Amino acid sequence: MPAWSKVRNSYPALKEYTYLDTAGTGVVSVSTARAARKFYEQVSNHGNVKLKAWLERVGEARRQIALLIGAKPEEVAFVANTSHGMNIAALMLKGQGEVLTNESEFPTSTVPWLHQGYKVHFVRATRGVIQLESTAGAAGRAGCKSASTARPLSIREAMGRRKRGIIVHSYVQFATGFRQDMAALGRLARRHGHHFVANITQGCGAFPVDVKEWGADIACCSGIKWMCAGEGAGFMYIRRGLLKKFKAPLAGWFSVKDPMRIDNRTVRLKTEAARFELGGLPMPSIFALGCAAEQTRRLGVGNIAGRIRGLTDYLLERLEEIDVPVASSKAPEHRSGIVLVRLPGAGALVEKLRKRKVRVSARSAGIRVSLHFYNNRDDIDAFINHLGRLVSSGKRCPGAGRGALA
Ligand SMILES: Cc1ncc(COP(=O)(O)O)c(C=O)c1O
Repeated sequence: MPAWSKVRNSYPALKEYTYLDTAGTGVVSVSTARAARKFYEQVSNHGNVKLKAWLERVGEARRQIALLIGAKPEEVAFVANTSHGMNIAALMLKGQGEVLTNESEFPTSTVPWLHQGYKVHFVRATRGVIQLESTAGAAGRAGCKSASTARPLSIREAMGRRKRGIIVHSYVQFATGFRQDMAALGRLARRHGHHFVANITQGCGAFPVDVKEWGADIACCSGIKWMCAGEGAGFMYIRRGLLKKFKAPLAGWFSVKDPMRIDNRTVRLKTEAARFELGGLPMPSIFALGCAAEQTRRLGVGNIAGRIRGLTDYLLERLEEIDVPVASSKAPEHRSGIVLVRLPGAGALVEKLRKRKVRVSARSAGIRVSLHFYNNRDDIDAFINHLGRLVSSGKRCPGAGRGALA
């Protein structure tokens, strides 16, 4: 088991802030920052002399990502962010049917498909839960927003309505932190002849990802959140069979098998996912991502997930003590690093907390608290103490109930 207090020392921001906002931006470790900086030091001192070494480091970063998500390196492409990957997915899967998603997706999962003219169906989330199977209790609550009828729908029911299509779904929802059972979703998708596109940005780096076990066709991830790699690079997984089956909708000089031939007449594309790396790469960001992925693997994703569970248990206990409700599902199998605290006036509260150097986000009528392995109980105590004081001072205002906190 990692010595978490020692690990924490590698994340300098935690000395200054009570940082509970990894779902917004993960804190970058000293060595990850150094990996990115090293590129600029080298290009500043030596120009392109280190090019061969840089390309090898890109290869190593790809290998680290592949190991982290259970893929082969040939199935991993570096992209700028999740949106970039989703756009490639939406272009690639044109003609494969309509899109099925849920109403609580981050727009990155929906805008690229809507923009390409796909019909997108939104399954309802009920109290933060996105049902795969319908249950008696869900009847009348779950539903498919864009369908013409108001009949209750789970994902299975919505899939059953069409012979094929594309399910686009996040591993972890950005506001509530609901963690979906992606292996079960993948099984459903296969049974119903749907392609399965996963947005893993809010889960990868914190909870296990196994794209093969899930049966994902495509998975897209940004490096900025739970991967703790900063801005500029993300990655996408594309299943090998898909790479063979579908024509590449984009290509550039670096997409071809031998770019250094500088051939401007023929297009012989790489067979790997790297064909979507069209030209010069954002090397510093990729080096940071590779370093962060290696650190994640060294700590062990299982250990990280366990650490997050322990911290969120403690947060839930402390919230109960100050009588502040939680909007996230508390079912152990659906919990993640995100806890949505139900409080009106969240925007103003978050601003007040920020003045006290407590970093959290305001999301959908609540405060989103996100806990990664580098947090500790002291962070949670600091947050609870500040929040408790703000909430009780809000209650003391004449005529004010919880709703007057803003
Ligand atoms: C689930 C999810 N996907 C993606 C993103 C960010 O998208 P991108 O990587 O395109 O900036 C966010 C940001 O909050 C998110 O919550």
